[in-house]
Amino acid sequence: MNTKIAFFGTKPYDRESFDRANEAFGFDIHYYKGHLTPESAILAQGAAAVCIFVNDTADEAVIRALKAQQVPLIALRCAGFNNVDLKAAAREGIEVVRVPAYSPYAVAEHAVALMLSLNRKIHRAYWRTRDGNFALHGLMGFDMHGKTAGIIGTGKIAKILIRILRGFGMEVVAYDLYPDRKFAEEVGMRYVTLEELYAVSDIISLHCPLTDETRYMIDSAAIERMKPGVMLINTGRGQLIHTQALIDGLKEKRVGAAGLDVYEEEGDYFYEDKSDKIIDDDTLARLLSFNNVIVTSHQGFFTREALANIAETTLSNIQEFVKGMPLSNAVRGDK
Ligand code: NAI
Repeated sequence: MNTKIAFFGTKPYDRESFDRANEAFGFDIHYYKGHLTPESAILAQGAAAVCIFVNDTADEAVIRALKAQQVPLIALRCAGFNNVDLKAAAREGIEVVRVPAYSPYAVAEHAVALMLSLNRKIHRAYWRTRDGNFALHGLMGFDMHGKTAGIIGTGKIAKILIRILRGFGMEVVAYDLYPDRKFAEEVGMRYVTLEELYAVSDIISLHCPLTDETRYMIDSAAIERMKPGVMLINTGRGQLIHTQALIDGLKEKRVGAAGLDVYEEEGDYFYEDKSDKIIDDDTLARLLSFNNVIVTSHQGFFTREALANIAETTLSNIQEFVKGMPLSNAVRGDK
């Protein structure tokens, strides 16, 4: 009998890429549309793994429910693992694997798309010309060349973004807990303190993980220290930004533009078609009302190449586990 995998939060595009990759593995994948919850965990009965994405929460209750169904592995089909209670998983003896890198280009290029759209107001120009309005007032942007980008976190995604921005002729300053001096020298950028980064950057882009230390790092105190009119880009995690502080900053014109691929309460909305419903999240509704804000629905990763890599790595992570091999992409917490 083939090894069963219970796949939660399935979208048609997941099925397409996983079915294609699974031709080489032959797992028995059971696709479920709903999220993994303590109640739905029963669907994973007898499975060698559950496969979940960013907006499924594997908290203590879910992990206990998985334990009760004797599911030994949580396979994340994403890089971030802030949605998993690693301590609870360790306590229950459940392994967690993830896809550390699938296409850093996808996310870096999406960050650039947000920057260029906001700067040159493509989102507004698109509607204007469709409506026969060929006027330019309100659409003025700035040359990226010569401006300063401040990058927080200089891992895989940020490094690609930095090379692209250097290609535009931008100055780049960055902050990371673990600076990569060799890379800085190679691309011609400077590591600075957060204080200096806030003070000198025309565009600030967030690429660090969500941790206790980085949660709400962009709050009203941080925004006050930034250049007036700064553009903020977040393709990291929603809770890196205190959304109300951002809204205040936008209303006071301290923040000139914001490009958000992630939002702290995205779980109820992102990836779902809510177009025939009323948005009952006032914070999200306010964000969507600014003409200098673009919200995308956590789509930074969403390229053909990235989806193929995600499927291939996830299934090979599961195969390693099933065969008792060392896990290349395990994430482990303290008990
Ligand atoms: P990475 O692990 O290669 O890089 C993260 C960097 O952040 C590292 O250099 C690390 O030293 C640094 N860092 C850690 N704590 C920090 C702190 N307190 N302050 C400053 N820097 C700190 O990660 P990668 O692959 O570049 O991804 C970055 C983030 O992007 C992920 O954590 C994830 O949240 C997000 N992401 C978003 C996607 C999307 O679709 N929008 C898709 C993939 C990842």
